[in-house]
Amino acid sequence: MVKKSDIPRLEVFSLNTEINKKNHLAIGGCDTLDLVKKFGTPLYVYDENDLRSRCREYKAEFGKRYPNVTIAYSPKAFTAKAMLKLVQEEGLDLDIVTGGELGIAKIVGFPMERIHFSNSNKSVEDLEMSVKYGLGHIGVDNLPELDMLIKIAGKKKVKILLRLNPGVDPHTHKYNTTGIADSKFGLTRTTWDQAVATALAAPNLDLDGFHFHLGSGLFEAEPYFKAMDAVLSYAAEIKKKRGYNMKTLSIGGGIGIQYTVGKVPPPFSYFAEKITTYLKKKCTDFGLTPPRLIIEPGRSIVAKGGISLYTIGVIKEIPGIRTYASTDGGISDNIRYAMYGEFARQEAVIANKVSAKNTDKYTIYGKLCESGDVLIKDIMLPKLAMGDILVMAGSGAYAVPMQSNYNSMLRPAIVFVKDGKARLIRRRETLDDLIRRDSD
Ligand code: LLP
Repeated sequence: MVKKSDIPRLEVFSLNTEINKKNHLAIGGCDTLDLVKKFGTPLYVYDENDLRSRCREYKAEFGKRYPNVTIAYSPKAFTAKAMLKLVQEEGLDLDIVTGGELGIAKIVGFPMERIHFSNSNKSVEDLEMSVKYGLGHIGVDNLPELDMLIKIAGKKKVKILLRLNPGVDPHTHKYNTTGIADSKFGLTRTTWDQAVATALAAPNLDLDGFHFHLGSGLFEAEPYFKAMDAVLSYAAEIKKKRGYNMKTLSIGGGIGIQYTVGKVPPPFSYFAEKITTYLKKKCTDFGLTPPRLIIEPGRSIVAKGGISLYTIGVIKEIPGIRTYASTDGGISDNIRYAMYGEFARQEAVIANKVSAKNTDKYTIYGKLCESGDVLIKDIMLPKLAMGDILVMAGSGAYAVPMQSNYNSMLRPAIVFVKDGKARLIRRRETLDDLIRRDSD
């Protein structure tokens, strides 16, 4: 009988992944081949207990070191009604990026005062809705937005964070780098003073503190230190100059996860220890009262809990060059490898051959009309045949939200599994869905 520990690749799958008695891959107590029979492919499956345990680990690891902490899940990594409900049950806040996310949060009854809204170009409607709903924070990104908000807030008092661009490189993929000077995000260093002066002078704004976000997929704590240096020294400066006390500091999200064998980031406990120790020390050095700390994890809550399943179709061997194995999905359901290359590399196994030796090299592609329609380049797998079920690990973050209907592909169903039970949380799209918004 083969065990999970015999297959190194399984270490990057969700917590409740195992090989069952039938020698099939199982997740959350459900045989993946049964899931495929019931729900079809491509299919996204989330291990509910894995998601919940990441939420709890964040709360515990940061909370025991720094009680005045708020963990705000970033649903941009994975938004679904069931997910927002789960997050609410686990007692996390939400860090949202659009009016759409706000709308969904409202529909599921998420408490509005536990929502923090940050993006780089909010519309009048976004701001009106945020003011009306009474969000926890509106994260103001730039000076024009600040002026718009002062007008829109009217007689209401609105709690804001100013998003400061700290000018720090987080050493991640350039598309996921948001806190360097050359970035569309946040207030440029030269505008910090004007923003603070404007916010403090506005009777309808309550400047609660500052926000930064460095990027996504960080393996080091160092960039957080550098950004805290920039923001906390500035907070000390304005405390002296204006008597202003920063009450809240949001350090964004970004903590990386393990996608591939051998590329292991430090655990949450490491980031929690490093970040909170540094924050406390710097507050003492700068004579600041330690603020409420907000963290906005997305990827590290959902990436490992999610897998994607495909049926292998045509296999094309081009002698001396490469063997292509097709799937019934592609960049329409997971565009990450096409966008970010090896940064977005994922591991995979064959559900029905999980303990077979990886003898052959394949490039796994999709069924869309593009040569860039690749899910995994050059992966060793057992000898494939049409009808095999390929399971990709680490599909939980950013694959589903970045899906499209390119080539009129139907977006996959999503299932939550837990203790041997599967529940459909998003049905597969139908042809009707594709034309629902059209008229003749
Ligand atoms: N807070 C803010 C303001 C953000 O912009 C983001 C992510 C997060 C929090 C959450 O970061 P996380 O903990 O997930 O790293 N599409 C890319 C990722 C883009 C991340 C955008 N911002 C990917 O597929 O890798």
